[in-house]
Amino acid sequence: MKISIINGPNLNLLGKRETDIYGSTSFDDFFKNIVSNFPDVDFDYYQSNVEGELINQIQDVGDSSDGIILNAAAFTHTSVGIADAVKSIKSKVIEVHISNTFSRESFRHKSFLSPVVDGVIVGFGLDSYRLAVESLIEKNKD
Ligand code: DQA
Repeated sequence: MKISIINGPNLNLLGKRETDIYGSTSFDDFFKNIVSNFPDVDFDYYQSNVEGELINQIQDVGDSSDGIILNAAAFTHTSVGIADAVKSIKSKVIEVHISNTFSRESFRHKSFLSPVVDGVIVGFGLDSYRLAVESLIEKNKD
């Protein structure tokens, strides 16, 4: 089973950025951990700060991955283009957020992605990604 993780802007700074909200673990360290905890899953990971590059990546893996875990970060709240890319692919997509966006500023309450994805996992820290992996493994059995 192939799972693609796609992270949006500023998530390359995880572990250093607003650690009170996002924690002190880098995504690279977390990714090594998740890869070793799910040996039967073939993972790939992509991060970009550029909206169009995220759209290209969604299109590139969108028919070959069994599932995509997408944290579009700030673009979640603004991007019709990323939502349209999600709508145009076959892979299942789970939207994840590290923080509970609903307990933060009101502009973070709106997601252009939530209406077009297969599920949303919000607010469990980096564990949101593990929960998304578990759910994609379950969905893949259907
Ligand atoms: C985030 C929440 C977004 O509102 C924010 O812009 C991020 C990270 C999260 O994972 O909690 O960069 O997607």
